[in-house]
Amino acid sequence: MRRRHFLSWLTFSSILTVLPSALSSCGKQQAVSNSNVPPSPSPRQDGFIEVGTVQTLETDGSLAFKSADGKDVTVIQDPKIAGAFLALDSLCTHQACNLNWDSDSTSFFCPCHGSKFDTEGNVLDGPATEPIKSYPTKVEEGNILISIS
Ligand code: FES
Repeated sequence: MRRRHFLSWLTFSSILTVLPSALSSCGKQQAVSNSNVPPSPSPRQDGFIEVGTVQTLETDGSLAFKSADGKDVTVIQDPKIAGAFLALDSLCTHQACNLNWDSDSTSFFCPCHGSKFDTEGNVLDGPATEPIKSYPTKVEEGNILISIS
């Protein structure tokens, strides 16, 4: 066997050796990723869903919630009304990147292209042109509920 053919054979056999374990680990990552998605709570008869406690939100600064139908929602304290909460879609209306809540500027910021939204979901800076959707909230016995219907 010539040196060149030997090196080609060696490279090909190395790929065949590594490929099954590489494919197998991809499958494991997918399974781990799927198992980390928390179950969505069911809506009550009045259409509200319990998304967390006031205490947790005050500690963490915001609450993230994913509804059974796939809506990503962020819940924050209303910076204008003490004890009130706001729930807004977590995805930017430009190209659906995850928005970040900035409590200092009291706005949602998109890290992808720089759009900014106020606490009512209105666009402050583009390129987004559509507002983000907001949802009614209420508090019962220290729990925050939102209505996403
Ligand atoms: Fe948010 Fe483009 S996806 S600004």
